[in-house]
Amino acid sequence: MADARVGNGPEAATGPAGSGPTGSGTAGERPLEERLAEAGLRLEVDGAVATVTLNRPERRNAMTFATWRGLAAIGRSLPDGVRVVVLRGAGPSFSAGIDLSMFSGDGGEGFADGSDAEATDRFIAELQEGYTWLRRPDIVTVAAVHGHAIGGGFQLALACDIRVAADDVKFCMKEPALGLVPDLTGTKPLVEIVGIGRALELCLTARTVLAEEAARLGIAEIVVPRDGLDAAVDGLVASLLAVNPGAAVATKRLLWEAAENTLEQQCAAERREQIGRLRDLFGK
Ligand code: ACO
Repeated sequence: MADARVGNGPEAATGPAGSGPTGSGTAGERPLEERLAEAGLRLEVDGAVATVTLNRPERRNAMTFATWRGLAAIGRSLPDGVRVVVLRGAGPSFSAGIDLSMFSGDGGEGFADGSDAEATDRFIAELQEGYTWLRRPDIVTVAAVHGHAIGGGFQLALACDIRVAADDVKFCMKEPALGLVPDLTGTKPLVEIVGIGRALELCLTARTVLAEEAARLGIAEIVVPRDGLDAAVDGLVASLLAVNPGAAVATKRLLWEAAENTLEQQCAAERREQIGRLRDLFGK
């Protein structure tokens, strides 16, 4: 999906190295905060915890190209001390996925027809950057999901390390029903979590997965009543922050490598990471 007619979303929102999440950026550039607000995003950083809120509740947090560029900009501008990133949605839903007005061009940016494959490839890669940073080993990412998590919204939850879901959650991979494929990095984690057969069934029927099934399939690690979501996320974040920071980074790196590695490679990776930990803990 894509259009090379790039709009004025926060695609240039990186700012110079070292500029904070609300950094002033270069001269004449509007603050990131402001540009994120236009893209329907809010970023709050409180010490080691950053909270990213999808903030277009009147549109059920439907996402535009600007939203995905904004997410990428957040990833690039996170302060060094951030260890946990929480993603949540304002209003009744986590996210209703892509803003359907983009199909008609009403949202300002429309779709290319794919005739320029290279440009379209680059463009989708840029949008995917909004999701890929969530796997970085130096942070743990938590999706707090309630209500609908459809299409790009479902994929955003899948891009996070841990999903905490409210019991009103409704996951749906809607793209094939719209003639598209899920292209916001969601196919790999979905297959890894539920297996190829279930992933096919979910995607090719575009059916909705409710909370009980999401817990059973491992799509959500934790399911809580809707009114307990914030407390559950706060508790999880506190537990994540209680762990030694260096061990957390090394362990996340190790666990993400595990699926790709042979046993031999993984054993070597464990030794390598442990040597680093031992040096850090006991080195003189
Ligand atoms: N894009 C743009 N606007 C949206 C979207 C969307 N994806 N989803 C909801 N909205 C808007 C509605 O048009 C409505 O606007 P209005 O108040 O001006 O009429 C408002 O948000 C509220 O939506 P409702 O449908 O009234 O809310 P409800 O709670 O009844 O339903 C639901 C929510 C199920 C999410 C429904 O809105 C829906 O099915 N949306 C479309 C989902 C979709 O197909 N997304 C694309 C997935 S594929 C991908 O992400 C690549």
